[in-house]
Amino acid sequence: MQRPGLIQEIKTLMELVANKTTVMTDSVMEIDVNEYSNPDQFEREKLELFRNYAQFVGPSCILPNPGDYFTFDDTGVPILIVRTAEGGLNAFVNICSHRGAPLTEEACGQAKKGKMFSCPYHGWSYNLEGDLIGIPFGNEGFPGLDRSTLGLKKLQIEEKYGMIFVMPNPEKTFDIDEVLGGIQDRLSGFGFEDHYYLGAKQVHTNFSWKLNMDTFHEYYHFEFLHPNSIATMAYSNIANYLQYGRNHSMGSPSLQINDLKNVSEEEWQPREYSSYVNYIFPNTVIFVVNDHFQTWRVYPISPDRSVVYHSMFIPNKPKDAAEQKTFEDYFQMINDVAVAEDYGLVDKVHRGLQAGIDRKVIIGRNEPGVQNMHRQLHDILG
Ligand code: FES
Ligand SMILES: [Fe+2]
Repeated sequence: MQRPGLIQEIKTLMELVANKTTVMTDSVMEIDVNEYSNPDQFEREKLELFRNYAQFVGPSCILPNPGDYFTFDDTGVPILIVRTAEGGLNAFVNICSHRGAPLTEEACGQAKKGKMFSCPYHGWSYNLEGDLIGIPFGNEGFPGLDRSTLGLKKLQIEEKYGMIFVMPNPEKTFDIDEVLGGIQDRLSGFGFEDHYYLGAKQVHTNFSWKLNMDTFHEYYHFEFLHPNSIATMAYSNIANYLQYGRNHSMGSPSLQINDLKNVSEEEWQPREYSSYVNYIFPNTVIFVVNDHFQTWRVYPISPDRSVVYHSMFIPNKPKDAAEQKTFEDYFQMINDVAVAEDYGLVDKVHRGLQAGIDRKVIIGRNEPGVQNMHRQLHDILG
């Protein structure tokens, strides 16, 4: 969102703070507890939300240079994404045409000589367009093989407004503007193209991917679950709420927001006084705070397990080892709070939901983000 939108939101947040309230929905929502544990529903979620729906990969700055690649296989389809010499992106199913090995086992890196992938199993090689360009012992071992039909299988990939999306199912396509739903108006000023990718932390959790997501969508729990961490920086239960297609964005005031009453509006720096939780359906949160942002991508493993990738993006490459360490420590601290405070409790929530007690999960009017995620799930899954 450009400056006028952020300024307007600051005014909304100051009003909410003055009235000690938050933006709310019309009604309370109830969710059947089975939705979190039913194995059939889980299989449908994996298919409809993670195989047949466009996936947020990351901001453009995860792949700054030609030959840079990024892989993940958490949707069930192994995916390899690479920046081409022309600056575009290609996405492939990361399965070698010979006997099926992944072309690279690293999560990210640089293609061989910046221009090819060589399979670690028997050395078949492919260029950045996915064409099969080399077979060791090829003439003798594989006579008559039509190499032109044995390139890597392509997937639809789109990059727009500094965000990268891929479709895991090679038989499906998507419309990037429909997937974004207008959230680019909110996000396109945040510099997703030119930040520095500090790295990612992988956390495995023993609870449903949906419980994992639920924790990010409301500010109601801050004063109770995070009294000594987040609640010392941001107001509890006070946030703006904006809907964009299936996605949403929530602005939250810092405890210092009323300091702006003594500053003329032209000098306001909205990002110093508010932070933004941006939900990209179905599984991603982009958290924008101060001068940097973080992404949290959550994937299902089983009804009882999920994995989350927490990535950190800072304005510039650290100048030296000391600055690098400062950012690494901050990154670790944020991750520790989520793991110790949120995930520690949600682990127990999951046990309760799995206890076979017939009941409803209740989502309040003051939890519009949680309501939206479940409304979108119902819309797609019925
Ligand atoms: S599986 Fe890739 S070269 Fe054999
Ligand atoms: Fe939390």
